[in-house]
Amino acid sequence: MAKISFFFALFPLVLSSSVTKAQQVSVYELKRADFSAKFTTYGATMLSLILPDKTGKLNDIVLGYDSIEGRVANRIGGAKFTLNGVTYKTVANDGKNTLHGGRRGFSDVIWTVKSYKRDSHVTFSYGSFDGEQGFPGNVSVSVTYMMLGTNKLAVKMVAKPLNKPTPVNLALHTYWNLGGHNSGDIMSHTLQLFGSKITPVDSELIPTGEIIPVRGTPYDFLRPRQVGSKFDKLLDGYDINYVLDKSSLKHLRKVAVVEESKSGRKMELWSNMPGVQFYTSNMLKNEKGKDGAIYAIHSGLCFETQGFPDAVNHPKFPSQIVNPGEIYRHFMVFRFTAH
Ligand SMILES: *[C@@H]1O[C@H](CO)[C@@H](O)[C@H](O)[C@H]1NC(C)=O
Repeated sequence: MAKISFFFALFPLVLSSSVTKAQQVSVYELKRADFSAKFTTYGATMLSLILPDKTGKLNDIVLGYDSIEGRVANRIGGAKFTLNGVTYKTVANDGKNTLHGGRRGFSDVIWTVKSYKRDSHVTFSYGSFDGEQGFPGNVSVSVTYMMLGTNKLAVKMVAKPLNKPTPVNLALHTYWNLGGHNSGDIMSHTLQLFGSKITPVDSELIPTGEIIPVRGTPYDFLRPRQVGSKFDKLLDGYDINYVLDKSSLKHLRKVAVVEESKSGRKMELWSNMPGVQFYTSNMLKNEKGKDGAIYAIHSGLCFETQGFPDAVNHPKFPSQIVNPGEIYRHFMVFRFTAH
C-alpha cells in the first residue's frame, strides 16, 4: 500500500466520497529491462514511467498526478448539449461548464483489470451507466497500456455505447517532465508540435468556434523551440487545443516531439485523434506529489490527444457522437530515446 499512498494524498476527498469498501485500488506494473511503468485501477491512471537518461540513470518522468478523464474530456460550454432533439445537462464542475466529464469523471472511479501480462500490457475496463454525470446511455469503456520493445508505450482507449448515442472524448492527462518528475519546471524543454491551427477560447476557456493559424503567434511550435520562450506573451502558459496536421502515415498523425537537454531524453507522440490539448500545468500550486516532491506551477507538460473541446456545441467541429453499434477508438504511441 505504501506505493500508492501519495495517490490517496492527492485525492483524499474524492476517495472518501466515491470509493466503497467493496472496491479495490490496486497497482499493476509493466516492465521490460530498464523500462517500467505502474498503473492503478483508480482512474486507470499511469502512476509512473521510469527509464534511463543518456548516462543510464533511471528517472520517473511522470508527475504523480494524472488520469484518464471522464466520458467527454476537456470542457462542455454551459454544461449542456443537444443530441437528437434532447437537451442533456451535464454536471458543472468548472464554473458554469463541465470539465473532464463532470465532478466524478472516469479518473475518479475504480476500473476493473481485464487482462494483464507484466512484460506486455494491462487492460482496464469500466461500465459507464445511463445518466452518469448527465450523459446519455450505457457505455463500456476500456483502456490498454502496452509496452512495445523497451522504449515504446502504446495507449488504446475504446468506448462502445450500448443503448443510446452519446458523445465520447477520452483523454490521457499524464503530466510529463523528461528531466524527472521532481526536477523543476519544464520551461527549457524543447517542443515541436505539429498543429498549424488552434481553436481559440473565451475567458472561460470555451472555444469560440473559430479555427485560426498559429504562424507568427506565441502558439507556433511548428519549428522546435523552448516551451518557455514566449511565456511573456501569454497570460499564464499554454492551455489550448491544437488542430493536428494531416500526416503521410495512414492512421496516425505525429503530434509532438519533446526534448530535455540535461537528461538527453526525447519523447515522440503519435495519435489518430484530430486535436491535442497542450497544457503547461498552469494550475499546479505546490501540490504534494510522490517521493516527497512538491509540484510547482509549470512542472509538467500535458499532451491530451482528443477531439476538439466543446465539439458537442459546435457543429463545424468533428463530431464526437458515437452510436450504438459503433466503436470509438483512440490510439497514442509514445517513443522514448536518450542521447
Ligand atoms: C444499462 O445499465 C443499467 C445499469 O447498470 C443496467 O441495469 C441495464 O441493463 C443496462 N442496459 C443495457 C442495454 O446495457
